[in-house]
Amino acid sequence: MSEERTFVAIKPDGVQRGLIGEILGRFETKGFKLVALKQLIPSRDLAEKHYGVHRERPFFKGLVDFITSGPVVAMVWEGEGVIASARKLIGATKPLESEPGTIRGDLAVNIGRNVIHGSDGPDTAQFEIDLWFESSELNDWVPADQIWRIE
Ligand code: RTP
Ligand code: MG
Repeated sequence: MSEERTFVAIKPDGVQRGLIGEILGRFETKGFKLVALKQLIPSRDLAEKHYGVHRERPFFKGLVDFITSGPVVAMVWEGEGVIASARKLIGATKPLESEPGTIRGDLAVNIGRNVIHGSDGPDTAQFEIDLWFESSELNDWVPADQIWRIE
């Protein structure tokens, strides 16, 4: 499987609850590589584009209100199979149905306060990375311990 990149964001509840370090650690210790990271309060325009697929859903306005309500930590993680693996690390959308051991399973209860977002496929990942980051913000680098990560 080839190297992939995915977009991950710690939502305002995760930031407010002091979970940034805990969540970053899940991806770091798994062995994925962080290639971009920034904290921002998303504009309404950015949030509406990001969740555009849900525009007609009844929860859309509340979701956009929430995601724009405070700082979000936006990230791009790179690695073999990282798009699907990040979704597994994150867990099911409804935290009460997320398996223990997943981020939502361990750290959240409410569907509207599920602490983290992850791209749901390759096309979405590309769209979201381009939406949230300039290409100059994505860092190509080789971890010093790369030899210990690959076969
Ligand atoms: P996300 O996009 O945030 O990573 O979450 P997801 O893929 O697991 O779930 P998705 O279906 O894309 O829903 C996006 C976010 O909308 C909120 N939601 N609320 N009240 C509801 O029925 C409802 N359904 C979805 C959740 O916060 C979900 O993460
Ligand atoms: Mg989604």
